Amino acid sequence: MAKERTFSIIKPDATRRNLTGEINAVIEKAGLRIVAQKRVKWTKAQAQEFYAEHKERPFFKELVTFMTSEPIVLQVLEGEDAVAKYREIMGATDPAEAKRGTIRKKFALSKGENSVHGSDSTKSASREIKMNFIAKEIAG
Ligand code: PPS
Repeated sequence: MAKERTFSIIKPDATRRNLTGEINAVIEKAGLRIVAQKRVKWTKAQAQEFYAEHKERPFFKELVTFMTSEPIVLQVLEGEDAVAKYREIMGATDPAEAKRGTIRKKFALSKGENSVHGSDSTKSASREIKMNFIAKEIAG
């Protein structure tokens, strides 16, 4: 299987509770390499653009408010089958439905405050990485 990249966000509920290191440990133990990482605070416009596909959903405003409430950690993860592998170790969107041992089962508070984001396809990964990193910030 070829090496692949995915895009990850450690969300405000997790940065607020100082969980970045614990989440990174789960990522690295699963065999994914963190090839880029930065801590930023998104503007409302950045969050709206990133989540544009959800703009008609009833929770959109809440999602944008949450994602701009505190700093977040943006990452590029690399490894075999990285998109699917990260989705698997993140667990379901709703922590009540997430499998044991997944990041969301361990740390998420709710469907909104669910600690991490991971790209849902290689196409999304490419868009999300380009939106948040320039090439020289990624060291694979
Ligand atoms: S759903 O409802 O199962 O279809 O959820 P999903 O499409 O996976 O969710 C998309 C992103 O929206 C976030 N979300 C919410 N935010 C705030 N409030 C509520 N109620 C809510 N429900 C879902 C969810 O965490 C997803 O974020 P990302 O960053 O894409 O994982």
